[in-house]
Amino acid sequence: MNDFLTIDKIHKSFPARESYLKVLDGITLRQGEGEVVAIVGASGSGKTTLLRIVAGLEQPDTGAVALRGKPVTGPGPERAMVFQQFGLLPWLNVLDNILFGLRPAGLTKDEAEERTHDAIARVGLTGFEKFMPKELSGGMQQRVGIARALAVRPALMLCDEPFASVDTLTRQTMQTDLQKVVRETATSVLLVTHDIEEAIFLGDRVIVFSSRPGRVMEEIPITLPKTRDHSVRTLSEFQELREHIWQRLQSKN
Ligand SMILES: Nc1ncnc2c1ncn2[C@@H]1O[C@H](COP(=O)(O)OP(=O)(O)O)[C@@H](O)[C@H]1O
Ligand SMILES: [Mg+2]
Repeated sequence: MNDFLTIDKIHKSFPARESYLKVLDGITLRQGEGEVVAIVGASGSGKTTLLRIVAGLEQPDTGAVALRGKPVTGPGPERAMVFQQFGLLPWLNVLDNILFGLRPAGLTKDEAEERTHDAIARVGLTGFEKFMPKELSGGMQQRVGIARALAVRPALMLCDEPFASVDTLTRQTMQTDLQKVVRETATSVLLVTHDIEEAIFLGDRVIVFSSRPGRVMEEIPITLPKTRDHSVRTLSEFQELREHIWQRLQSKN
């Protein structure tokens, strides 16, 4: 179960001024297939950097990532990313944005279109296929971002603060909808966020990062029911977890 994704002793620094900035300080994590792991940490704690390393968009200084035992050396269709700023191509409509993301998968036109329509339906965007990104709200644009990742049918979906650019009212609805589609498609998700409630709501397990350089301070199994709706937020267990994680994020170790 626990060797689906392995992240081993990742260290990463970036050059800064005459010196360098240490961003990740020995990250080791295991993720099981079908599991949703949510990393919560302050801004600047290296969350995006870690996701980019798992995506193969960035190389660690030392350490290694493997998916199903296969070392990650670059991007691949078994890993799909959902970006904080949606990352849509503004000159392509909804349908074409998703089809564009499928190009590396080498599907036939029919297969690509079938997957695209399926993904559009799953995120509730049927009827919006011909809309341009600028005609959509932020929430709807991120639905396209999620559909684009789902259409790839990745083994692992990487979500970088997926709802941080979406208004608060829309955010909770989108979290519920993401949770549903992830369960329906049995997608494994590695999500990073600075939003404590989002991490608890979506995670089977929450990893608490220290402030920069990012280190794993605590791993918390979330024992809330696997299928969650808005009402779990009112459970005392949810509120205790939120308080506990908040306290941990204030501490330095
Ligand atoms: N390519 C880069 N070059 C230099 N510094 C970077 C680069 N990417 C990220 N950083 C720096 O690394 C730190 C951590 O960034 P990031 O991983 O984006 O954190 P988070 O996503 O948790 O906010 C930040 O201080 C950021 O400015
Ligand atoms: Mg970030």
